Amino acid sequence: IPEYIELEGGYRMPRIGFGTWQASSEVLEQAVDAALEAGYRHFDTARAYENESALGRALNRWIGGNPEKRKELFVVTKLPPGGNKPELVQEYFNSSFEDLNLQYLDMYLLHTPFAFEHVPGDLHPKNPDGSAKMDHTTDLLALWKAVLKLKESGRVRLVGVSNLNVEQLERVCSVEKPACLQIENHILCQQPGLVAAANKLGVPIVAYSPLGSKALADAKAAQTGLKYPDLLQLAEVQRIAQLHGRTPAQVLLRYSLQRGLAAIPKSINPIRIKQNISVYDFCLSESEMNELATLDRGENGRVCDFTFFVGADKHPEFPFKK
Ligand code: A2P
Repeated sequence: IPEYIELEGGYRMPRIGFGTWQASSEVLEQAVDAALEAGYRHFDTARAYENESALGRALNRWIGGNPEKRKELFVVTKLPPGGNKPELVQEYFNSSFEDLNLQYLDMYLLHTPFAFEHVPGDLHPKNPDGSAKMDHTTDLLALWKAVLKLKESGRVRLVGVSNLNVEQLERVCSVEKPACLQIENHILCQQPGLVAAANKLGVPIVAYSPLGSKALADAKAAQTGLKYPDLLQLAEVQRIAQLHGRTPAQVLLRYSLQRGLAAIPKSINPIRIKQNISVYDFCLSESEMNELATLDRGENGRVCDFTFFVGADKHPEFPFKK
């Protein structure tokens, strides 16, 4: 498996990227130092994570003003749902661009197909009853066209999408193919239909929560009362890991890579950071791949269904209709 995915325009995206969601600015800078040291060159953030400045500081320290070093990196951020209107896209891009403080960004993603109301200074606006302030007027194709336009400035090389379903992906492709589709993907939520559709359309997939995002899973369990297993503890995963002399996390990441995906595990621990990128020197057998494929739980395996934003599922573009 090559360590890069070839993207349109000759750009290359490292297959293992560094996820930064839920990493606070205080711990992120050191984690990024550790990631750079371990060999990560692909970094994924979002306006909504509120850590772009910290990521930018750590990356700029490493770049040290050397444009050749900047070229080694692949830096991704995302338009927040409160900016999901064509006339807001440039303004939100500019804020991310300033905070990351890099000469250019590699990729900019539409974070979600549903939208929040645009409330300056509040990325997660809420109604008095605690529900999310949704904006139901979203025109997904007009929005996608506005995101595509960002490439004209030269400040971002590629644009893509995240959290779209098959129908939405096909719809945006009718205007122009996104450079990637970023979705939740791990052994309990394998989304074979969406992966096949993206493959057919020629849209590379980046898997978020490739380790099952324990924090989100715990939150979902607390909210719904459903039990959600820890992927790293699953007997099948542990047995395969032992056989290869690897950790369960490495097996999960290798599984994503052998399915043809890129993956962006998040860790703030230097040992785990290193472990998560050391997945190119072993290979799961066909029977192991087949066994792991059977662990898929479909929609029941999804941890990031955005219902923690109460009312998000009422939006006309909510992607995960049951
Ligand atoms: P930590 O940051 O303390 O390492 P995901 O990328 O699926 O959202 O998963 C991230 C979660 O998995 C975080 O809680 C992270 O904790 C943990 N994690 C990351 N890498 C590993 C690993 N190699 N082994 C065990 N847990 C890990």
